[in-house]
Amino acid sequence: MDHLKTQGISMPKLGLGTFRMQGDTCREAVETALSIGYRHIDTAEMYANEDAIGAALATASVPRDELHVTTKVWHENLTPDAIRRAFDASLNKLRLDHVDLYLVHWPSKSANWGAVFETLMKLKDEGRTRAIGVANFTTALLKIAVEDVKAPIACNQIEYHAMLDQSKVLAYLGAKSIPLVAYCPLAQGRFASDPVLAEIGAKHNASAAQVALKWLLDQDGVAAIPKASRRESQQANLDALKIKLDDADRNKIAALPKDRRCVNPGFAPAWD
Ligand SMILES: NC(=O)c1ccc[n+]([C@@H]2O[C@H](COP(=O)([O-])OP(=O)(O)OC[C@H]3O[C@@H](n4cnc5c(N)ncnc54)[C@H](OP(=O)(O)O)[C@@H]3O)[C@@H](O)[C@H]2O)c1
Repeated sequence: MDHLKTQGISMPKLGLGTFRMQGDTCREAVETALSIGYRHIDTAEMYANEDAIGAALATASVPRDELHVTTKVWHENLTPDAIRRAFDASLNKLRLDHVDLYLVHWPSKSANWGAVFETLMKLKDEGRTRAIGVANFTTALLKIAVEDVKAPIACNQIEYHAMLDQSKVLAYLGAKSIPLVAYCPLAQGRFASDPVLAEIGAKHNASAAQVALKWLLDQDGVAAIPKASRRESQQANLDALKIKLDDADRNKIAALPKDRRCVNPGFAPAWD
């Protein structure tokens, strides 16, 4: 599996998303994923599953330095004290002494970005997170973090898939050598029944979902974190790495609609 090197960490390009999985379902899914080779797990305090993931990590026999664990602080907890409390709770539930990446989950209009990133940088200096980053940041917000605050941003985790244009953010991230971690890489599962992706898949003896995933993972500086609770889907997503898409396939994907955003809560920023 390829890795992305960023701000001193090495992140597997394919990870396991865990939103909407909790309790034993989540624990079992993470145990299965680790057993078949996943080494990158994505969670957040908001997912209310860090305890289940912690239980799975505790029983797995994977050396800690081979694992990449990302968690995130919720946008209502962006004061220095609240970040500290949220971080301590996350680490405790995950049963870890450090995470690999700690992200601001969503921007907040009331955040003091200097204070937010100073707090995250202290956690990094203390060795409790190996790197820090953001999620759902627009180019304007990235400029504040990267150019004004000069925070060592290791990634921007945003929605990105075959039916959503992210060229503006990608151009900014590329210029700064910051990876994009794609969430909803399968458009929340909708791609499984897409006829264009299925037709491309038929040519490669692969599924529509696998084609969508490989299209993302073929891109420089892009990682993806599909959520899959079933072993079959987890394995299918690992197997997607073997598909070789060609220019004709990429042209068909380029012609798909690019305005299908799945995640747009009321507190989202004005997207690029
Ligand atoms: N930073 C943020 O604000 C943010 C927002 C949203 C998501 N995320 C992260 O990104 C992760 C992924 O996004 P998501 O969960 O919303 O959507 P997604 O990964 O695009 O889609 C997940 C759905 O696709 C299905 N699936 C997975 N692999 C498949 C395959 N090979 N064939 C057919 N169906 C397949 C899953 O089914 P089964 O579970 O039944 O296997 C599930 O229903 C989240 O879990 C979370 O970790 C972050």
